[in-house]
Amino acid sequence: MDALIIQGGARLRGKIRVNGSKNAALPLMAASILTDAPVTLREVPHLSDIASMRQLLTALGVKNEHHADGSMVMQVVNSSVSSADYSLVSKMRASICTMGPLLAKRKVARVSMPGGCAIGDRPIDLHLRGMQALGAKMTLDKGDIILHADRLIGAEIFLGGNFGSTVLGTANVMSAATLAKGTTVIESAACEPEITDLANLLNQMGAKITGAGSPRITIEGVDELHGVDYTVIPDRIEAGTFMVAAAITNGEVELDNVRLEHLLAVVDKLRQIGVIVEKTPTGCIVSSIRRLNATSITTQPYPGFPTDLQAQFMALLCLADGNSIVTEKIYPDRFLHVAELSRLGAHLHKEASTVVIEGERELIGAQVMASDLRASAALVLAGLVARGETTVSRVYHIDRGYEKIETRLNALGAKIKRVDLKDA
Ligand code: EPZ
Repeated sequence: MDALIIQGGARLRGKIRVNGSKNAALPLMAASILTDAPVTLREVPHLSDIASMRQLLTALGVKNEHHADGSMVMQVVNSSVSSADYSLVSKMRASICTMGPLLAKRKVARVSMPGGCAIGDRPIDLHLRGMQALGAKMTLDKGDIILHADRLIGAEIFLGGNFGSTVLGTANVMSAATLAKGTTVIESAACEPEITDLANLLNQMGAKITGAGSPRITIEGVDELHGVDYTVIPDRIEAGTFMVAAAITNGEVELDNVRLEHLLAVVDKLRQIGVIVEKTPTGCIVSSIRRLNATSITTQPYPGFPTDLQAQFMALLCLADGNSIVTEKIYPDRFLHVAELSRLGAHLHKEASTVVIEGERELIGAQVMASDLRASAALVLAGLVARGETTVSRVYHIDRGYEKIETRLNALGAKIKRVDLKDA
Protein backbone atom coordinates (compact mmCIF):
# COMPACT_ATOMS: atom_id res chain seq x y z
CA MET A 1 0.00 0.00 0.00
CA ASP A 2 1.45 3.37 -1.02
CA ALA A 3 2.44 6.08 1.45
CA LEU A 4 3.77 9.58 0.99
CA ILE A 5 6.87 10.63 2.90
CA ILE A 6 7.07 14.40 3.19
CA GLN A 7 10.04 16.47 4.36
CA GLY A 8 8.46 19.63 5.73
CA GLY A 9 9.69 23.17 5.43
CA ALA A 10 9.93 23.98 1.71
CA ARG A 11 8.25 27.16 0.53
CA LEU A 12 6.28 26.36 -2.61
CA ARG A 13 7.03 28.52 -5.65
CA GLY A 14 6.14 28.28 -9.31
CA LYS A 15 3.19 27.54 -11.54
CA ILE A 16 0.70 24.69 -11.43
CA ARG A 17 -2.16 23.79 -13.75
CA VAL A 18 -5.44 22.76 -12.17
CA ASN A 19 -7.11 19.70 -13.72
CA GLY A 20 -10.67 19.24 -14.89
CA SER A 21 -13.16 18.67 -12.11
CA LYS A 22 -13.67 15.13 -10.80
CA ASN A 23 -17.07 15.92 -9.33
CA ALA A 24 -18.25 17.54 -12.56
CA ALA A 25 -16.84 14.75 -14.75
CA LEU A 26 -18.54 11.85 -12.91
CA PRO A 27 -22.18 12.87 -13.64
CA LEU A 28 -21.17 14.03 -17.14
CA MET A 29 -19.82 10.53 -17.79
CA ALA A 30 -23.10 9.02 -16.52
CA ALA A 31 -25.01 11.27 -18.95
CA SER A 32 -23.48 9.28 -21.85
CA ILE A 33 -26.15 6.65 -21.08
CA LEU A 34 -28.80 9.12 -22.28
CA THR A 35 -27.87 8.88 -25.98
CA ASP A 36 -26.80 6.20 -28.47
CA ALA A 37 -24.43 8.69 -30.15
CA PRO A 38 -20.80 9.21 -29.06
CA VAL A 39 -20.09 11.61 -26.20
CA THR A 40 -16.60 13.12 -25.96
CA LEU A 41 -15.43 14.83 -22.79
CA ARG A 42 -12.21 16.79 -22.53
CA GLU A 43 -10.08 17.60 -19.47
CA VAL A 44 -11.17 14.46 -17.61
CA PRO A 45 -8.57 13.87 -14.87
CA HIS A 46 -6.79 10.53 -14.51
CA LEU A 47 -8.07 9.49 -11.10
CA SER A 48 -9.14 6.24 -9.51
CA ASP A 49 -12.74 7.50 -9.09
CA ILE A 50 -12.86 8.19 -12.83
CA ALA A 51 -11.50 4.68 -13.47
CA SER A 52 -14.25 3.25 -11.21
CA MET A 53 -16.91 5.13 -13.17
CA ARG A 54 -15.44 3.84 -16.44
CA GLN A 55 -15.63 0.31 -15.07
CA LEU A 56 -19.27 0.82 -14.14
CA LEU A 57 -20.10 2.31 -17.56
CA THR A 58 -18.43 -0.66 -19.27
CA ALA A 59 -20.61 -2.99 -17.18
CA LEU A 60 -23.62 -0.94 -18.29
CA GLY A 61 -22.78 -1.36 -21.99
CA VAL A 62 -21.03 1.98 -22.56
CA LYS A 63 -17.78 1.52 -24.45
CA ASN A 64 -15.25 4.11 -23.24
CA GLU A 65 -11.67 5.19 -23.77
CA HIS A 66 -9.69 7.63 -21.65
CA HIS A 67 -6.69 9.12 -23.45
CA ALA A 68 -3.48 10.53 -21.96
CA ASP A 69 -4.52 14.09 -22.95
CA GLY A 70 -7.64 13.80 -20.74
CA SER A 71 -10.14 13.26 -23.55
CA MET A 72 -12.68 10.52 -23.05
CA VAL A 73 -14.92 9.04 -25.70
CA MET A 74 -17.99 7.09 -24.64
CA GLN A 75 -20.70 5.33 -26.65
CA VAL A 76 -23.50 2.96 -25.75
CA VAL A 77 -22.99 -0.40 -27.45
CA ASN A 78 -25.38 -2.51 -25.39
CA SER A 79 -28.38 -1.09 -23.57
CA SER A 80 -29.75 -4.36 -22.20
CA VAL A 81 -28.06 -4.07 -18.76
CA SER A 82 -29.54 -1.63 -16.23
CA SER A 83 -28.03 -2.64 -12.94
CA ALA A 84 -25.19 -1.03 -10.98
CA ASP A 85 -23.76 -3.75 -8.72
CA TYR A 86 -22.89 -3.43 -5.05
CA SER A 87 -19.21 -4.15 -5.78
CA LEU A 88 -19.00 -0.96 -7.87
CA VAL A 89 -21.47 1.25 -5.95
CA SER A 90 -19.86 0.49 -2.59
CA LYS A 91 -16.45 1.41 -4.03
CA MET A 92 -17.66 4.81 -5.17
CA ARG A 93 -20.88 6.49 -4.09
CA ALA A 94 -20.98 8.69 -7.19
CA SER A 95 -22.07 5.50 -9.03
CA ILE A 96 -25.53 6.56 -7.90
CA CYS A 97 -25.57 9.20 -10.65
CA THR A 98 -26.14 6.48 -13.26
CA MET A 99 -29.64 5.97 -11.76
CA GLY A 100 -31.39 8.92 -13.45
CA PRO A 101 -29.92 8.30 -16.93
CA LEU A 102 -30.65 4.53 -16.74
CA LEU A 103 -34.25 5.07 -15.69
CA ALA A 104 -34.92 7.74 -18.33
CA LYS A 105 -33.29 5.92 -21.26
CA ARG A 106 -33.66 2.23 -20.41
CA LYS A 107 -36.95 2.46 -18.44
CA VAL A 108 -35.43 0.58 -15.52
CA ALA A 109 -32.62 1.20 -13.07
CA ARG A 110 -31.37 -1.32 -10.53
CA VAL A 111 -28.87 0.33 -8.20
CA SER A 112 -27.42 -1.16 -5.07
CA MET A 113 -28.04 0.91 -1.90
CA PRO A 114 -24.66 2.60 -1.33
CA GLY A 115 -24.29 1.77 2.40
CA GLY A 116 -22.06 3.60 4.91
CA CYS A 117 -19.28 6.05 4.12
CA ALA A 118 -16.23 7.38 5.98
CA ILE A 119 -17.55 10.95 6.06
CA GLY A 120 -20.87 10.01 7.65
CA ASP A 121 -24.38 8.89 6.72
CA ARG A 122 -25.07 9.68 3.11
CA PRO A 123 -28.69 8.73 2.46
CA ILE A 124 -30.23 8.78 -1.04
CA ASP A 125 -33.84 9.44 -0.01
CA LEU A 126 -33.96 12.71 -1.97
CA HIS A 127 -32.78 11.01 -5.17
CA LEU A 128 -35.52 8.41 -4.77
CA ARG A 129 -38.17 10.99 -3.93
CA GLY A 130 -37.24 12.80 -7.15
CA MET A 131 -37.49 9.67 -9.29
CA GLN A 132 -40.84 8.74 -7.75
CA ALA A 133 -42.15 12.26 -8.36
CA LEU A 134 -41.29 11.72 -12.04
CA GLY A 135 -43.57 8.66 -11.96
CA ALA A 136 -41.09 5.84 -11.30
CA LYS A 137 -42.32 2.81 -9.36
CA MET A 138 -39.86 1.65 -6.73
CA THR A 139 -39.22 -1.78 -5.20
CA LEU A 140 -36.42 -3.14 -3.04
CA ASP A 141 -34.71 -6.47 -3.67
CA LYS A 142 -31.71 -7.85 -1.74
CA GLY A 143 -30.31 -4.40 -0.95
CA ASP A 144 -30.95 -3.11 -4.46
CA ILE A 145 -33.40 -0.38 -5.42
CA ILE A 146 -35.32 -1.13 -8.58
CA LEU A 147 -36.99 1.76 -10.37
CA HIS A 148 -39.32 1.35 -13.37
CA ALA A 149 -41.14 3.76 -15.64
CA ASP A 150 -42.19 3.28 -19.25
CA ARG A 151 -41.89 7.04 -19.70
CA LEU A 152 -41.16 9.53 -16.94
CA ILE A 153 -43.66 12.38 -16.58
CA GLY A 154 -42.55 15.96 -15.80
CA ALA A 155 -43.42 17.19 -12.29
CA GLU A 156 -42.71 19.85 -9.67
CA ILE A 157 -40.13 18.43 -7.27
CA PHE A 158 -38.78 19.88 -4.02
CA LEU A 159 -35.25 18.57 -3.43
CA GLY A 160 -34.32 20.34 -0.18
CA GLY A 161 -33.21 18.13 2.72
CA ASN A 162 -32.15 18.64 6.33
CA PHE A 163 -28.63 19.53 5.20
CA GLY A 164 -29.64 21.69 2.27
CA SER A 165 -29.89 20.70 -1.37
CA THR A 166 -28.35 17.57 -2.83
CA VAL A 167 -25.75 17.83 -5.59
CA LEU A 168 -25.92 14.34 -7.09
CA GLY A 169 -29.67 14.18 -6.37
CA THR A 170 -30.14 17.31 -8.48
CA ALA A 171 -27.89 15.79 -11.17
CA ASN A 172 -29.96 12.59 -11.19
CA VAL A 173 -33.36 14.28 -11.36
CA MET A 174 -32.23 16.85 -13.94
CA SER A 175 -30.69 14.14 -16.16
CA ALA A 176 -33.78 11.92 -15.90
CA ALA A 177 -36.17 14.81 -16.61
CA THR A 178 -34.46 15.65 -19.93
CA LEU A 179 -36.27 12.68 -21.52
CA ALA A 180 -39.53 12.95 -19.50
CA LYS A 181 -42.86 13.87 -21.08
CA GLY A 182 -43.65 17.50 -20.21
CA THR A 183 -42.01 20.02 -17.93
CA THR A 184 -40.16 19.39 -14.67
CA VAL A 185 -39.39 22.08 -12.12
CA ILE A 186 -36.80 21.30 -9.44
CA GLU A 187 -37.14 23.57 -6.40
CA SER A 188 -34.29 23.86 -3.89
CA ALA A 189 -31.95 22.49 -6.54
CA ALA A 190 -28.23 22.42 -5.78
CA CYS A 191 -26.53 25.53 -7.24
CA GLU A 192 -23.00 24.06 -7.45
CA PRO A 193 -20.97 24.82 -10.62
CA GLU A 194 -20.89 21.06 -11.30
CA ILE A 195 -24.69 21.18 -11.78
CA THR A 196 -24.42 24.10 -14.20
CA ASP A 197 -21.73 22.14 -16.06
CA LEU A 198 -24.04 19.13 -16.36
CA ALA A 199 -26.92 21.33 -17.58
CA ASN A 200 -24.60 22.88 -20.19
CA LEU A 201 -23.57 19.43 -21.42
CA LEU A 202 -27.18 18.19 -21.55
CA ASN A 203 -28.32 21.33 -23.40
CA GLN A 204 -25.57 20.79 -25.96
CA MET A 205 -26.96 17.26 -26.35
CA GLY A 206 -30.38 18.74 -27.18
CA ALA A 207 -31.99 19.04 -23.72
CA LYS A 208 -34.01 22.13 -22.75
CA ILE A 209 -32.85 23.18 -19.30
CA THR A 210 -33.03 26.68 -17.85
CA GLY A 211 -32.14 28.04 -14.42
CA ALA A 212 -29.20 25.72 -13.61
CA GLY A 213 -26.98 27.43 -11.05
CA SER A 214 -30.06 28.81 -9.25
CA PRO A 215 -32.35 27.00 -6.78
CA ARG A 216 -35.08 26.58 -9.42
CA ILE A 217 -34.26 24.52 -12.51
CA THR A 218 -36.82 24.00 -15.28
CA ILE A 219 -36.48 21.11 -17.71
CA GLU A 220 -38.73 20.72 -20.74
CA GLY A 221 -38.58 17.08 -21.75
CA VAL A 222 -37.47 16.10 -25.26
CA ASP A 223 -37.78 12.79 -27.14
CA GLU A 224 -34.09 12.14 -27.60
CA LEU A 225 -30.61 13.51 -27.01
CA HIS A 226 -27.65 13.47 -29.40
CA GLY A 227 -23.86 13.28 -29.10
CA VAL A 228 -21.57 16.09 -27.96
CA ASP A 229 -17.94 17.18 -27.59
CA TYR A 230 -17.61 19.02 -24.28
CA THR A 231 -14.86 20.34 -21.98
CA VAL A 232 -15.21 19.75 -18.21
CA ILE A 233 -14.85 22.80 -15.90
CA PRO A 234 -11.68 23.17 -13.80
CA ASP A 235 -11.71 21.49 -10.40
CA ARG A 236 -12.49 24.19 -7.82
CA ILE A 237 -11.62 21.87 -4.93
CA GLU A 238 -8.23 20.97 -6.37
CA ALA A 239 -7.63 24.69 -6.94
CA GLY A 240 -8.59 25.47 -3.33
CA THR A 241 -6.26 22.73 -2.09
CA PHE A 242 -3.30 24.19 -4.04
CA MET A 243 -4.18 27.67 -2.75
CA VAL A 244 -3.85 26.33 0.80
CA ALA A 245 -0.55 24.64 -0.17
CA ALA A 246 0.81 28.03 -1.21
CA ALA A 247 -0.52 29.75 1.91
CA ILE A 248 0.55 27.13 4.47
CA THR A 249 4.16 27.14 3.20
CA ASN A 250 4.36 30.95 2.98
CA GLY A 251 5.01 30.43 -0.70
CA GLU A 252 3.98 32.05 -3.95
CA VAL A 253 2.18 29.89 -6.49
CA GLU A 254 0.50 30.76 -9.75
CA LEU A 255 -2.53 28.58 -10.47
CA ASP A 256 -3.57 28.17 -14.07
CA ASN A 257 -6.98 26.92 -15.29
CA VAL A 258 -9.00 28.29 -12.36
CA ARG A 259 -12.46 29.83 -12.47
CA LEU A 260 -12.16 32.23 -9.52
CA GLU A 261 -15.89 32.96 -9.73
CA HIS A 262 -16.45 29.39 -8.48
CA LEU A 263 -14.27 30.09 -5.43
CA LEU A 264 -15.56 33.39 -4.09
CA ALA A 265 -16.26 32.13 -0.55
CA VAL A 266 -12.84 30.48 -0.46
CA VAL A 267 -10.92 33.50 -1.74
CA ASP A 268 -12.85 35.73 0.66
CA LYS A 269 -11.77 33.51 3.58
CA LEU A 270 -8.15 33.39 2.39
CA ARG A 271 -8.01 37.18 2.19
CA GLN A 272 -9.61 37.51 5.65
CA ILE A 273 -6.83 35.44 7.15
CA GLY A 274 -4.11 37.41 5.38
CA VAL A 275 -3.37 35.39 2.24
CA ILE A 276 -2.84 37.42 -0.94
CA VAL A 277 -4.88 36.25 -3.93
CA GLU A 278 -4.37 38.11 -7.20
CA LYS A 279 -6.48 37.35 -10.26
CA THR A 280 -4.71 36.57 -13.54
CA PRO A 281 -6.32 36.05 -16.97
CA THR A 282 -6.37 32.25 -16.53
CA GLY A 283 -6.38 31.85 -12.76
CA CYS A 284 -4.63 33.52 -9.85
CA ILE A 285 -1.42 33.98 -7.88
CA VAL A 286 -1.59 33.00 -4.22
CA SER A 287 1.06 34.12 -1.76
CA SER A 288 1.52 34.57 1.93
CA ILE A 289 4.31 36.39 3.68
CA ARG A 290 3.40 36.38 7.34
CA ARG A 291 1.64 34.47 10.09
CA LEU A 292 -2.07 34.20 9.29
CA ASN A 293 -5.06 35.48 11.26
CA ALA A 294 -7.48 33.13 12.95
CA THR A 295 -11.05 32.99 11.61
CA SER A 296 -14.31 31.09 11.73
CA ILE A 297 -15.57 28.93 8.88
CA THR A 298 -18.98 27.31 8.43
CA THR A 299 -19.47 24.95 5.51
CA GLN A 300 -22.57 25.50 3.43
CA PRO A 301 -24.03 24.54 0.07
CA TYR A 302 -22.66 26.60 -2.84
CA PRO A 303 -22.04 29.53 -3.02
CA GLY A 304 -21.11 29.11 0.66
CA PHE A 305 -17.80 27.68 1.86
CA PRO A 306 -17.45 24.09 0.49
CA THR A 307 -17.32 21.09 2.81
CA ASP A 308 -14.75 19.60 0.42
CA LEU A 309 -12.21 22.25 1.56
CA GLN A 310 -13.01 22.14 5.27
CA ALA A 311 -10.20 19.73 6.19
CA GLN A 312 -7.57 21.59 4.14
CA PHE A 313 -8.47 24.92 5.77
CA MET A 314 -8.36 23.31 9.19
CA ALA A 315 -4.75 22.32 8.48
CA LEU A 316 -4.02 25.94 7.55
CA LEU A 317 -5.72 27.36 10.66
CA CYS A 318 -3.62 25.07 12.90
CA LEU A 319 -0.83 27.60 12.28
CA ALA A 320 -2.85 30.82 12.52
CA ASP A 321 -2.36 33.42 15.21
CA GLY A 322 -5.17 32.76 17.72
CA ASN A 323 -8.24 30.54 17.99
CA SER A 324 -10.32 29.58 14.97
CA ILE A 325 -13.69 27.84 14.75
CA VAL A 326 -14.74 25.43 12.02
CA THR A 327 -18.36 24.25 11.86
CA GLU A 328 -19.45 21.50 9.46
CA LYS A 329 -23.05 21.89 8.28
CA ILE A 330 -23.10 19.45 5.36
CA TYR A 331 -21.57 16.31 6.91
CA PRO A 332 -21.59 16.81 10.71
CA ASP A 333 -19.19 13.85 11.19
CA ARG A 334 -16.63 14.81 8.55
CA PHE A 335 -13.77 15.22 11.03
CA LEU A 336 -11.58 12.16 10.55
CA HIS A 337 -8.60 14.48 10.06
CA VAL A 338 -8.91 15.96 13.58
CA ALA A 339 -7.22 13.08 15.39
CA GLU A 340 -4.51 12.81 12.72
CA LEU A 341 -3.73 16.56 12.74
CA SER A 342 -3.45 16.28 16.52
CA ARG A 343 -0.71 13.67 16.01
CA LEU A 344 1.23 16.42 14.24
CA GLY A 345 0.94 18.65 17.29
CA ALA A 346 -2.21 20.60 16.40
CA HIS A 347 -4.43 21.70 19.28
CA LEU A 348 -7.98 20.88 18.28
CA HIS A 349 -11.10 20.65 20.45
CA LYS A 350 -14.10 18.98 18.85
CA GLU A 351 -17.62 19.43 20.17
CA ALA A 352 -20.41 17.94 18.03
CA SER A 353 -20.02 19.41 14.54
CA THR A 354 -17.67 22.21 15.60
CA VAL A 355 -13.91 22.21 16.09
CA VAL A 356 -12.01 24.93 17.92
CA ILE A 357 -8.44 25.27 16.66
CA GLU A 358 -5.79 26.81 18.88
CA GLY A 359 -3.19 28.20 16.52
CA GLU A 360 0.33 26.85 17.06
CA ARG A 361 3.76 28.17 16.02
CA GLU A 362 4.65 24.86 14.37
CA LEU A 363 3.56 21.32 13.58
CA ILE A 364 5.89 18.37 14.06
CA GLY A 365 6.22 15.51 11.58
CA ALA A 366 4.73 12.11 12.49
CA GLN A 367 3.12 9.04 10.95
CA VAL A 368 -0.50 9.70 10.08
CA MET A 369 -3.18 7.83 8.21
CA ALA A 370 -5.33 9.05 5.36
CA SER A 371 -8.99 8.26 5.96
CA ASP A 372 -10.95 9.96 3.20
CA LEU A 373 -10.05 12.01 0.19
CA ARG A 374 -10.11 15.54 1.59
CA ALA A 375 -8.86 14.54 5.06
CA SER A 376 -5.85 13.01 3.34
CA ALA A 377 -5.21 16.18 1.37
CA ALA A 378 -5.22 18.09 4.68
CA LEU A 379 -2.56 15.74 6.07
CA VAL A 380 -0.32 16.27 3.04
CA LEU A 381 -0.71 20.04 3.44
CA ALA A 382 0.17 19.83 7.13
CA GLY A 383 3.15 17.59 6.25
CA LEU A 384 4.46 20.26 3.85
CA VAL A 385 5.03 22.58 6.78
CA ALA A 386 5.56 20.22 9.73
CA ARG A 387 9.10 20.10 11.13
CA GLY A 388 10.92 16.94 10.01
CA GLU A 389 9.31 13.99 8.30
CA THR A 390 5.62 13.16 7.95
CA THR A 391 4.45 9.83 6.56
CA VAL A 392 0.91 9.73 5.25
CA SER A 393 -0.23 6.13 4.75
CA ARG A 394 -3.21 4.83 2.75
CA VAL A 395 -2.75 7.40 0.02
CA TYR A 396 -5.12 5.51 -2.26
CA HIS A 397 -7.69 7.90 -0.75
CA ILE A 398 -5.78 10.86 -2.22
CA ASP A 399 -5.45 9.15 -5.59
CA ARG A 400 -9.25 9.14 -5.84
CA GLY A 401 -9.28 12.90 -6.30
CA TYR A 402 -5.78 14.33 -6.93
CA GLU A 403 -3.79 13.25 -9.98
CA LYS A 404 -0.07 12.65 -9.24
CA ILE A 405 -0.19 14.92 -6.21
CA GLU A 406 3.44 14.37 -5.21
CA THR A 407 4.83 14.99 -8.71
CA ARG A 408 2.86 18.21 -9.07
CA LEU A 409 3.71 19.57 -5.61
CA ASN A 410 7.36 18.55 -6.04
CA ALA A 411 7.47 20.67 -9.21
CA LEU A 412 6.74 23.60 -6.87
CA GLY A 413 9.61 22.67 -4.55
CA ALA A 414 7.90 20.26 -2.15
CA LYS A 415 9.86 17.21 -1.00
CA ILE A 416 7.46 14.29 -1.22
CA LYS A 417 8.35 10.69 -2.00
CA ARG A 418 5.86 7.94 -2.80
CA VAL A 419 6.83 4.59 -1.36
CA ASP A 420 5.25 1.21 -0.99
CA LEU A 421 4.95 1.16 2.80
CA LYS A 422 6.41 -2.32 3.10
CA ASP A 423 9.61 -0.84 1.55
CA ALA A 424 9.52 2.29 3.74
C1 EPZ B 1 -21.32 15.68 -3.72
O1 EPZ B 1 -21.78 14.53 -3.02
C2 EPZ B 1 -19.83 15.52 -3.90
N1 EPZ B 1 -19.57 14.29 -4.64
C3 EPZ B 1 -19.14 15.48 -2.55
O2 EPZ B 1 -17.75 15.46 -2.81
C4 EPZ B 1 -19.48 16.76 -1.77
O3 EPZ B 1 -18.92 16.68 -0.48
C5 EPZ B 1 -20.99 16.91 -1.67
O4 EPZ B 1 -21.59 16.87 -3.00
C6 EPZ B 1 -21.42 18.20 -1.01
O5 EPZ B 1 -20.91 19.30 -1.70
C7 EPZ B 1 -19.62 14.29 -5.97
O6 EPZ B 1 -19.94 15.27 -6.61
C8 EPZ B 1 -19.23 13.04 -6.66
P1 EPZ B 1 -25.12 15.81 -1.37
P2 EPZ B 1 -23.35 14.25 -2.89
O7 EPZ B 1 -26.20 14.89 -1.87
O8 EPZ B 1 -24.06 14.83 -4.06
C9 EPZ B 1 -27.65 14.91 2.53
C10 EPZ B 1 -15.47 14.89 -2.38
O9 EPZ B 1 -14.66 14.96 -1.42
N2 EPZ B 1 -28.50 14.07 1.65
O10 EPZ B 1 -25.10 17.19 -1.93
O11 EPZ B 1 -23.52 12.82 -2.62
C11 EPZ B 1 -26.23 14.36 2.67
O12 EPZ B 1 -26.17 13.34 3.64
C12 EPZ B 1 -16.91 14.59 -2.11
O13 EPZ B 1 -15.14 15.05 -3.56
C13 EPZ B 1 -29.68 13.58 2.14
O14 EPZ B 1 -30.05 13.78 3.30
O15 EPZ B 1 -23.71 15.12 -1.63
C14 EPZ B 1 -25.48 15.62 3.03
O16 EPZ B 1 -25.67 15.91 4.40
C15 EPZ B 1 -17.26 13.69 -1.05
N3 EPZ B 1 -30.45 12.80 1.31
C16 EPZ B 1 -26.16 16.69 2.21
O17 EPZ B 1 -27.48 16.17 1.92
C17 EPZ B 1 -30.10 12.55 0.01
O18 EPZ B 1 -30.85 11.86 -0.70
C18 EPZ B 1 -25.49 17.05 0.91
O19 EPZ B 1 -25.16 15.87 0.20
C19 EPZ B 1 -28.91 13.09 -0.47
C20 EPZ B 1 -28.10 13.85 0.37
